[in-house]
Formats: sequence, structure tokens, C-alpha cells
Amino acid sequence: MPAASINVDDDILLRRPSLARAEDIYALVDANRDHLCRWLAFVDAMRSLQDQRAWLKAMLEPGHERWEYPMMVLHKGVLVGMIGVQNLGSRARFCELGYWLAADAQGQGIITRSCGALLDYLFGVEGINRVQIRAAVGNARSRAIPERLGFTLEGILRQADLANGVFLDMAMYSMLKEEWEERAT
Ligand SMILES: CC(C)(COP(=O)(O)OP(=O)(O)OC[C@H]1O[C@@H](n2cnc3c(N)ncnc32)[C@H](O)[C@@H]1OP(=O)(O)O)[C@@H](O)C(=O)NCCC(=O)NCCS
Repeated sequence: MPAASINVDDDILLRRPSLARAEDIYALVDANRDHLCRWLAFVDAMRSLQDQRAWLKAMLEPGHERWEYPMMVLHKGVLVGMIGVQNLGSRARFCELGYWLAADAQGQGIITRSCGALLDYLFGVEGINRVQIRAAVGNARSRAIPERLGFTLEGILRQADLANGVFLDMAMYSMLKEEWEERAT
């Protein structure tokens, strides 16, 4: 069962959304459509508050959190983006992180710090052994996050995603539990 919230530091809190937050999340997606749609396929599918509600409702179905769950990123109490934990539930105990931030919240280390706290939680509490991050080869800001956190670049998955009508080559990064723990000592 994922934590209801994770304290990243004095400024940043990750919190599991309730269905009531669909409106806030949709407003942020809608205000950042151009910024987000180049790299994120879901943005195009999120055309109305109803779409957002349906997505969130599916995420909050009992049991769904064993496979994936979203967390809101709150900066000084304000919703500024989302982080998703995905592809959970494998026998090999790996998962993947996905994230996005409002354009005007970039450049402050919010996602790097949030991913760091999530790694502590996933390795330390959830028993995960490997965390993956996939970022489009051309998405320098996204790739900088696993690189800043010391992930290993394993290779390039050719045309492994499709966003905005373009097939994207994806850089696959990973962090192992033993590496993360070694880093912390
Ligand atoms: C990908 C995305 C979340 C990255 O946002 P970001 O603001 O660059 O990432 P962070 O929040 O970790 O901030 C890092 C920046 O803050 C700076 N920073 C300040 N304080 C920091 C701290 N304590 N720790 C780390 N970085 C810090 C870093 O130097 C970096 O600055 P730079 O932009 O000049 O290099 C954002 O660009 C985005 O949402 N893009 C569109 C959607 C997307 O591509 N999602 C990912 C799909 S794979």
C-alpha cells in the first residue's frame, strides 16, 4: 500500500490525490498543454475534466495501487505537478517513475528532490529492488533528473514511445537498491 504522503523537505510534499483533486489536476494540465504535450502522450487524451476524473477514478480503484499510483507534487502547499509510480507488481520487484511539472515551477529542483525521496521510500519501505526512468532522447530536462540522481544509462529503446504524432527514441535509466543505499552512506 503506497504512503498517503511523503515529506520531501520543508517545501515539498508528495500526496496521493483524492477524486476531489481531479479539477485542480485538470486545470494544471490544461494550463500547461503546450509545455507538456511534446513529450507526454496522455496530455492529448485529457480533453475535459470528465477525462481527468475518469483517469483518476481508475487510478484510485481498490487494488490498482499494486500496479501503479500517482502522487501530487505540492510546493509550499501549491499543486505544481505529478509523479507516477508505474509497472509495479513484478516478481523481480522493479518499477518505473514518470513525472511532469508546470512550466513555471521548473528550475528549482522540485522533481529531482521528489524523486530522491521516492527512491528512499520505494527501496526502504516498499521493498523495490530496481527503479527505471525512461526519457525521450531529446528531452534534456527530463534526462537530467536520473543523471543528477546518479542513475545508470542502460541504452536507447528505439521508437519506444509515441507523443504528439512522433515516435520517440527513449533513454532507459536505472537505479538499484544497493547503489542507492551505497550512495547514501
Ligand atoms: C521534466 C521536468 C519535470 C523537469 O523539470 P526541472 O525543473 O528541469 O527539474 P527539477 O525540478 O528537478 O529542477 C532541476 C533544475 O533546478 C535546479 N535546482 C535548483 N535547486 C536544486 C536542487 N536542490 N536539487 C536539484 N536541482 C536544483 C537544477 O540546477 C536544474 O536547473 P536547470 O534547469 O537550470 O538545469 C519538466 O521539464 C517537465 O515537466 N517537462 C515536460 C514534461 C516531461 O517532459 N516529463 C517527463 C517525461 S519523461
